[in-house]
Amino acid sequence: MASSFPSVSELEAAARLLYGQVFGEEPQVAACAPGRVNLIGEHTDYNQGLVLPMALPLVTVVVGSRTPGPDVTVVTATEDADEPRRVDFSLLGDGAALAPGLPRWANYVKGVIQHYRAPPVPGFRAVVVSSVPLGGGLSSSASLEVAFYTFLQQLKPDDEDGVSKALACQQAEHTHAGVPCGIMDQFVSVLGSEGHALLIDCRSLKATAVPLTDPSLVILITNSNVRHSLTGSEYPTRRRQCEEAASVLGKDSLRDATIKDLEEAKGRLDDVAYRRARHVIEEIERTARAAEALQRGAYREFGKLMVESHKSLRDLYEVSCRELDQLVSAATEVEGVFGSRMTGGGFGGCTVTLLQAHAVDKTIQHIQERYGGTPTFYVTTPSAGAQVLSVS
Ligand code: GLA
Repeated sequence: MASSFPSVSELEAAARLLYGQVFGEEPQVAACAPGRVNLIGEHTDYNQGLVLPMALPLVTVVVGSRTPGPDVTVVTATEDADEPRRVDFSLLGDGAALAPGLPRWANYVKGVIQHYRAPPVPGFRAVVVSSVPLGGGLSSSASLEVAFYTFLQQLKPDDEDGVSKALACQQAEHTHAGVPCGIMDQFVSVLGSEGHALLIDCRSLKATAVPLTDPSLVILITNSNVRHSLTGSEYPTRRRQCEEAASVLGKDSLRDATIKDLEEAKGRLDDVAYRRARHVIEEIERTARAAEALQRGAYREFGKLMVESHKSLRDLYEVSCRELDQLVSAATEVEGVFGSRMTGGGFGGCTVTLLQAHAVDKTIQHIQERYGGTPTFYVTTPSAGAQVLSVS
C-alpha cells in the first residue's frame, strides 16, 4: 500500500501545538515549502541544462514569532533522534554563531539567515515540522531552506523575487551543507505550481509550466530506504568531471556542447570524462523531448525516455546502485507502467514511476515482491511551491 502523509494543515497544527508546548505562546507567522521529485533531467542543472521536476505534497512547515532581542531558538520535530532537537544562538557579534556546526539540521537555518536578502534578520523563535523523508532524495534540505526563507520573509520582507530567493537558498546549501548543488531543488520548491511540472532552463533561470493533471495518470515514488555513503564525495566529483570535460571541449558548460563536439574531442578526453559528458549532453536533449512529449500526452514516449535516462545514469554517469536498478526493473515489468527511473542525486533514495492509475496497486505489489529491501511508496500529485500559511 502507498503511504499516507499529513496534509499541510495537519502539519501546521502539529507545529503550532509543539510551539505552544515549548514557548507557552501562539506563533505569529507560518510558512511551508515542498520537497520535489525530478521526472527527468538528472545531473544537468549544474551543467546549465534542462530539468523537469515537480513540487510534492510532502512539505516542511515553519511556525514562529519575531522576538525583541537578537536571540534565535529553533526546535525541530522531525530530525534524526541522535542530534539535539533544539538550537539556541545569538545574532549579535561577528557572525561566528552562523558558522556551520552541530546539530547538522540547524546548518540549513543558519545558512538561510546568512544569505537572507534583506539583512539584518531579527531574533525569532520557531518550530519546524516536515513530511519530506530525510535523506531520501526528495529534497528535504531544499524544502527546509525554502520554508525557512519564506518564514523570514514574514518577519522582515525582502523584494519577493522568487528566482533570487532560490539562489540564496542554493548558496545556503553550498556554504552550510557543503554540497555544491545545482539550482533545481530550491527553484522548484520556491516556484512549483499545482498541477504542473516545471521545465527549468538552468542557464536562463526561466521555467515553463507543463500541465500534469490527467486523472488516468499516476506518479509513483518508491523510496528504496537505502542511502550509500558515496553520495557526499561523488557529487562534487561528478560536478568537477563535467567542468573539466566542458573546458577540454572549449565550452563554458556542457549545455553548449553537442554530441558532434564530444565525438571530435574524444581523443583528448579520458574514458570517464567522455562518459560523464555524454550522459549530460544526451540527458539535456532527452529532457527537452520528454517535456514536449508530456505536453502532447505521449506518455509511452515519455516513459521510454525515463528508462533511457535511468540506463544512462547507471552506465555512463554511474550514480545508480543495485537497489535503484532493482526497483526500476521491477516497475517496468508491470503492464500499465510507462517508465521508471532513479530520481535525484543517486546512490540510494527514490525512483519515480509514471503509470496508468489502474495499475498502481499491482505495481506496488510487484515491486514489493521483487525488491530485496523494504520500500516506501508515495502516490503524488504536482503541488504548489512555497506558501505563507495563515495562523488565524
Ligand atoms: C541533487 C542536487 C540537484 C541536482 C540533483 C541531480 O538533488 O541538489 O541540484 O544536481 O542532485 O540531478
